Formats: sequence, structure tokens, C-alpha cells
Amino acid sequence: MSRFTAPTTPEISSREIRNMQRVRDLAVECMVLLKNDGTLPLTEAGKIALFGNGARATVKGGTGSGDVYVRETVSIEEGLEREGFTVTTKGWLDRQEAAARAEKEAYEQAMIDAALAAGQPKEAAQMMMMLQPMTPVALEKITEEDVGQADTDLAVYVLARNSGEGKDRSAEKGDYELSDHEKSALAFLAEKFDRLIVLLNIGGVIDTKPLREIEGINAVVLSGQMGNITGLTVADLLLGRGIPSGRLSDTWAEDYRDYPSSAGFSGNDGDVCDEYYTEGIFVGYRYFDTFNVSPAYPFGFGLGYTDFSMEPAEIKCEGDSLLVRVKVTNTGKTYAGKEVVQIYVSGPEDGGIRPYQELRGFAKTGLLSPGESETVSVCMKLESFAEYSEERAAWYLPAGEYIVRVGRHSRDTHVAAVLTLSQDVVTQKVRNLFSDPAGKVEEIRPGKDHYTAPCEAEEKAAAPKFVIDPAAFTAETAVYPDVPDVIEAAAPDHELTFDEVAQGKASLEAFISQLSDEELAYLMVGNSVDNVGFNSVLGAAAKTLPGAAGETTGKLEEKRGLKQMELCDGPAGLRLTPEYIEKEDGTAIGLGGMSAGDPDTAGIRHYQYCTAIPIAMMLASSWNLELIQEFGDIVGSEMEEFGATLWLAPGMNIHRNPLCGRNFEYYSEDPLLAGKCAAADTKGVQKHPGFGTTIKHFLANSQEDNRMFTNSHISEKAIREIYARNFQITVQESQPMSVMTSYNLVNGTHAANHEDSVTHLLRDEWGFGGMVMTDWLTTSDLSVSLSATSELKYQKSDAAVCVRAQNDLIEPGEKADFTRILEGLSEGVITRAHLERNAGNILTLMLRTHLYCSRSYNETVPGKCITFE
Ligand code: BGC
Repeated sequence: MSRFTAPTTPEISSREIRNMQRVRDLAVECMVLLKNDGTLPLTEAGKIALFGNGARATVKGGTGSGDVYVRETVSIEEGLEREGFTVTTKGWLDRQEAAARAEKEAYEQAMIDAALAAGQPKEAAQMMMMLQPMTPVALEKITEEDVGQADTDLAVYVLARNSGEGKDRSAEKGDYELSDHEKSALAFLAEKFDRLIVLLNIGGVIDTKPLREIEGINAVVLSGQMGNITGLTVADLLLGRGIPSGRLSDTWAEDYRDYPSSAGFSGNDGDVCDEYYTEGIFVGYRYFDTFNVSPAYPFGFGLGYTDFSMEPAEIKCEGDSLLVRVKVTNTGKTYAGKEVVQIYVSGPEDGGIRPYQELRGFAKTGLLSPGESETVSVCMKLESFAEYSEERAAWYLPAGEYIVRVGRHSRDTHVAAVLTLSQDVVTQKVRNLFSDPAGKVEEIRPGKDHYTAPCEAEEKAAAPKFVIDPAAFTAETAVYPDVPDVIEAAAPDHELTFDEVAQGKASLEAFISQLSDEELAYLMVGNSVDNVGFNSVLGAAAKTLPGAAGETTGKLEEKRGLKQMELCDGPAGLRLTPEYIEKEDGTAIGLGGMSAGDPDTAGIRHYQYCTAIPIAMMLASSWNLELIQEFGDIVGSEMEEFGATLWLAPGMNIHRNPLCGRNFEYYSEDPLLAGKCAAADTKGVQKHPGFGTTIKHFLANSQEDNRMFTNSHISEKAIREIYARNFQITVQESQPMSVMTSYNLVNGTHAANHEDSVTHLLRDEWGFGGMVMTDWLTTSDLSVSLSATSELKYQKSDAAVCVRAQNDLIEPGEKADFTRILEGLSEGVITRAHLERNAGNILTLMLRTHLYCSRSYNETVPGKCITFE
């Protein structure tokens, strides 16, 4: 029987139509209204003068492995036309298209020439394009004639930015800054048109000063990159078919230099090898508030079409929990809307190193009509207010006052309660795991001059007071078990197959004990083990599911009957080769995406068109966990259809700096928001029995330039409170099936080789029960040769040390990984016990996947909520 099961008819499927509609129904809620003088929503679809680099060349999501191959992408121009608008600036749009095309062709040719000049095959240009993505700058001048032809008083300007893995953005004009052309075009349009709406088709923060300074801009919307139907979602926004109720998931600074990491970020200081996280825990609003720097738009900010009042309805502090119930009323007269209740807590002010306030919970209302109210409840675990102390090697709640604040965004909160704790309480005792052989990174320290919310003193005096009972907490002490002994299970005489294990006829231990060292080593290495060079590179290394980025070994199939897990990228949907040809010899070649097979090859054509959903930054902007779960469900339904066992998503690294090229793939600067979003996404996917997520990139991966060889120097406190905290929340609340380590080094050790994080933090402290895999090619010589940096200070990670760290699966897997594991075994770097332990992780997971089981993973591995419900 053929293993290729994707449909063989080219017509659009009912699933595609259904999922695009589902995206459409949810998308506008994620958008953030930054300014509106009443121009939005429009009353009807009429004539529109459409300009800007994203009008026709709309960006649906970023580049690299985060790109999803779709049947069609509806540009904003097309979306507006389909929904009844008449776009009257075709002349300008045609000129712009020609200029952009010429720029793109020149860039692609330059990459091919560079690949050939470096003695690489032509295909290497694809990888180079990933490492040096194009920053399109071509923009046609808007003339008086264009304005004359527009024949309308309404202009929409679509400002787009694109970025992706392998390359950080720049703080320059045309990227973070608006280009001179964009600024003058906006000023010109503001003068010529009565109404000017600016749509930000972007995936990361930009400078908004010109948008706030140019007079005559009536509305500004972070409309984002919403997947393949972005154009339709914009039409819905303009026509008021959906109400934007998004809130920013990052602080948008007045000036790029206001971000505390800006001076040293990535190549800004000329050094892409060592990154010093000198701001420590002061990331995003934690910095802006504590160091009293005013942002352009605060974290959590977003407007609506109506106003809301917010009144605490009930506050209860009992035992180890705090309940805050808030009544929200739509006080407007015309429009319905949704409001986000954000709860921040300020820890005791005793000179300790802690932020002015931290987000500890949030809830979004349903759609409230004018006059309508809803009371939302947020129940928080007091333990989640704990901070990390390196001196104590513990999480603890310092004695003193905890001020609970309720509000709309980080700069608009009101004191709702004051909790007092009479003594320090240790909530978890652990080991320090993150010392840096290069010495402790020197961190900034806050002074007394933090931001203070207006009326704070009066509100504090009037607020209800509660006493936290120290006896309500039991300090847990983390246990770090040794590597288990080599299995001594009584195994039957015959060679066991994995089906016998799955059917309960043999134990997993017996099966593992029968595997030879070679079989175990194969299990630890992805199925690209026989491929060489670019076959295994291009994010489409799987043989069984064309376009999947990788798969587990096929080497144990014949003798042991072991099936393969298919690993497919995301996060903005499922990334598969859209079409492929199944050849007579039983293999397949991909067409499109990263695969450039010959379309005339004889065989059966299969079609795997998937849905591109909004980028993670926009999902987070919804602040609606149910909505994010629904997006996860959309992806999960497509995973089921195509047999994609693990989604290589969600991405969830912290937005440390706006210039990280992959911020669009990640949620937020805040670990609680990011952790909750990834948990919701995971729950949506893992509703589908046997299919799961791979949260990535663990750990401290905030930079793309020199991403495989950059060393993040970070304090233990900042790792635990910020960069690992998001992962902890997701692991403990949703038990994702898998975790992917990152390319970078953490305090001198490759994340892929970091036993302290992969074994001791993730598994021993947090109780992660799934599988860990590497990011692609982190152990490969190819990564060294493809590195954009000629002088490498640090080397690639080591496959044998991956095994020792309990990084179970090396992807996409190369012969050299297999050889190195066996070499490590003979050298004593690892023992058979390490191999068996990791095999146990991989095979236990496999038993819970669709390949062997029809139950939901979350039924078998329940999580525990550590933050709020
Ligand atoms: C990316 C990962 C991705 C993998 C497989 C890597 O380059 O960093 O996020 O999952 O490729 O395509």
C-alpha cells in the first residue's frame, strides 16, 4: 500500500474553505487599533486610493521555516476588491509592482551568483536567501496625477515589513524606521485626502513617531500579517464586520535606543558572537516602568470603538490563591466591543531587584453591546508571584506588601488590593543551573525613580487589605535523579517488534534492552541519515511526508516495525510541500516550497494545501486564549489530515529586542502572556488525539545574526524569571509533546548540549514528560560552512553531548551524528544507559501518538496550572 495519502485531486477542499473561514471569523479580533478619530469603521465599501508597499505585495507572514505554502494569498488590494471596494490607484500599484519585481529579481540573481562563486550548488542560494533575506525598499513616488485619478477622499496606506530566520532586522530607515519616501508619501496623502488610514502589515515593532506627528492621519491599525486571507481580514476590519479588540503584546518605544538591549543587540555593537543580557530581568515594560521611561504605546495598549468602565467586583485572598473579579461595562452608545482586564502585581519595595510591576493574570470579556456588563474572574496562584534568588537557590516570596493593580494596559492601572506577607516564604528549592564560565554578566540596577501610577498613594490607602498566610505554602525541593541504570529486563528469545509493545504483549523496557547500540543510535538521529548536503538542509528533509522538515528514523522499520513521526514546521500554519509526485519506485518528489522537483516527472500527483493562520505576535495581541486555542485546532485538523505527528511550533522566545528577525514567530516580551499563548495553542493542537506541538526554541534565543554560534550571557535570575519562565508555564499547563532546543549557546554551552536546562530544569524541575529535539543541523559541519560569519568564536554542538544532555532526537540527522554517537559511546562521553534513557523518551512519546494510540496526549499526561485560571 502506498504511504502517500494526500488527496490526488487538485480542487480546493471543503477543509481548506472551512479553515479559511474560521481564520476570517477570528482574525479582526487580533488587530490593534492604535489611533482612530471616528474614521473607522467605514460605513460602506466605496472607492479607495490604495498605496504603500504592502497594498499589492501584502505580507501574509514572515520568511524562512515560518513561511507556510498556500494555494492563494489574498493581497489587501484583492481582498478589498472582492468585498466590493473599487481601488482607484491601479496606475500607482502597477508601477510599484514593477519596481518591486525588478528589485527582487536582482536580489535572487545576486544570491545565485554568490552561491556559485562560493563553489556551492545553485540550490544553496535558497539557504543564503534565508540567511540574508531581502529588505525590499523600492517604492514608487506618488504623484499629483495618481491623486487626481483616485477620485475619492479616502486613502489607505499599507506599510509592510518582512523578516525571517537567519537575519536580524535593522534599526535603519526602511526597516525599524520609516523610510524618507514613506514619510513624505504619508505627509503628501494626509494633505491630499480627507481621510487617511494607515495599516501596519508588519510582524514586529517599528518606529511610530512619524505616524503620530504627521497631521491628517485619521486612523492607524496594527492589522498585522494574518495568513493567506490577510486581504479579506482587512476588508472586514474596514467595513466593521469585525471589531479590533487586540492589545499590544510588546512595549512600543518612543525611540529604538530606549530599549535597554539596543546598544549591544546582535550586531549593533559589532559583535555577533557574544550577547550580554545586561538588562537582566528588565525586559519590555519591566524596564520602561522601573526606569521611568515613557513609551510611545505601552504594553497591553489598544483602542476600541467604544469605552468601558472597570470596577473590581470581588477580591478574595485565601490560602495560596488570589481571586480578582472585575465588572466591565460598555459605557459607549453605538458600538459593541471586548475589553481586556489586565492584572499587574508590584512586589515589596525593599530595595530588592524587582520590576515596578509584573503581569500576573488577564481575562477578556465577550462581545459587550452598549450598556452591557460582564464580570470576569481571574484566579491566581500566589506562588506565581515568587521571584528567584540565586543566593538562596530558591524561588521565594519576599516579606512585605504586594500591590494588586487592575487596568487596561501597563500605564493605566488602579490599585485593587494590598496583600501583606509577614515573612519570607520559600516556594521551591532548586539548584542554580546557569553559571557562566566567562564570569557573571554585569546587570543594570534600578534606582528609586520608577514610574508611579497617578493617585497611587490614595488608591493604596483606600484599597482592601489582606494578609497572606505563610503557612499556606509548602516548599517543594526539586529532585535531580541520576541517569537510570542499563535496563536488565527479561526479554523473550525472539526479536520484538514495536507493535508487540503497543499491543501490551511486551514491555517497552524489554524492547529497548533488545536494541543494539547501533539501533539505539539510529533512533536518536532523524531520517536524513543517508542524505548528504543540501538534501537534508532545506527544511523539507522528510521522505515519507513531502515537505515535512524532518522525521524520525526509518532504519528500525523493517526489523522492528517502528513507524516514523513526521515533523512539520509552523508556527503560522502547517508547512508542507503544496504538491508532490509519487513515483513508481515508491518515493516522492516535492513541487513548490523548498522542493524544486521536475513537474513533468511520471507518477501520481498529490495536493497538500494548508491554511496560513495569523503570525504569533498577532495571536498574542488578541489576549484571548480561547481564540488562540481555536487557531491551534485549525492547525491540528490539518495535521490529522496529512499525518503530521508533531508541529514544530509554537515558537515562543521572548521579544527581548524589536530587531530579532523572528519576533513575528513569537508572542511577546512578557513570559506570562507568551507562556499562556503557547499553552493555548498546544491545547488546540493536542485536542487531536495523537498529534502534538514542539515548543521552540529552548533557550534564550533572541538573535538571528550568527544564530548558530552566538553565546547568550545571562544571569540565572533572568533566565528563570524571563527566558525560561514562558516555557515553564507552557510545559506545566499544557504538556506539549515535544521541545526543540535552540541554536545558540547559553553561558558558554550550546542549548542543544545543555544538560542543566534540558534535563535538570525542563524535566527534573518542571516535570516535562515528552521528547526533546535539536534545531536543524546544530551538530552539522554544514552549519559551519553556511555560517554568514567567517570567523567563528564558538563551534557547532556535539551529537554525543546532545545524547548526554537528554536531547533525544538530532534533526534532521546526518551520518556524522550517528557515527559521533557511537564514537561518544566508545570514548565514554556517554554510556548505553544514556541511549536507553533517551530511547525511552522517544518511544514513550511514540506510543502516545496517532501512530499507535487514539487517545489525546493530554489525557495521558495532565499538566498543572502554575499561574492563573
Ligand atoms: C528553524 C526551526 C525549524 C527548523 C526546521 C530551523 O532553521 O530554526 O525553527 O523548525 O529549521 O525547518
